[in-house]
Amino acid sequence: RRVVVLISGNGSNLQALIDAQSYGELGGEIVAVISNKADAYGLQRARDAGIDAVVLPHIEYDSREAFDGALIKVIERHEPDLIVLAGFMRILTPMFVHRFHGRLLNIHPSLLPDYQGLNTHARALADGCTEHGVSVHFVTEELDGGPVVMQAVLKLCEGDTEESIIDRIHAREHLIYPIAVRWFLEGRLQLGPKGPVLDGMPL
Ligand code: GRF
Repeated sequence: RRVVVLISGNGSNLQALIDAQSYGELGGEIVAVISNKADAYGLQRARDAGIDAVVLPHIEYDSREAFDGALIKVIERHEPDLIVLAGFMRILTPMFVHRFHGRLLNIHPSLLPDYQGLNTHARALADGCTEHGVSVHFVTEELDGGPVVMQAVLKLCEGDTEESIIDRIHAREHLIYPIAVRWFLEGRLQLGPKGPVLDGMPL
């Protein structure tokens, strides 16, 4: 089974997937990493792992549609079973999302449906939440609104700051993303007509 990973930055989640693959625990192979930013450190992580690293700068395209059209072409050249968004900081067009419906996973740093969008940690802390966390979800047209597949909770304590929680947030992302990807690649996880299904049971 073939996986394409889309990134824009550091790529620590990509690294977690690469590590899982190297332990034989991913259930498939990352065949390409695509970044919309040439200076994304994740590109180096891909090269170090011997994975095809592709830069597709969005600034070279006049519109979101033109960029997404080019992105679709690059992705399809690699014939993936699954496309994994791992810190890919671009809003995708409906055309893109439809093309890969049911084959597109994202990780978001909140307990969805709470705190869609950006600055999730700051907002959760400002609201005095006692629980925060991370979510893996299928991507649909609604930004960060697709059906949730897996979550990991982080208990917040008094005095916690963005700085004090960021490593614990990342640790949870790195723990659950490879599991969700593996479930998908092993055919255990699908997006059915009524939502995600795991081992034949609705989630
Ligand atoms: C993660 O926090 C993820 O939840 C969000 O973007 C960040 C990417 O981090 N979508 P990295 O590039 O994987 O280190």
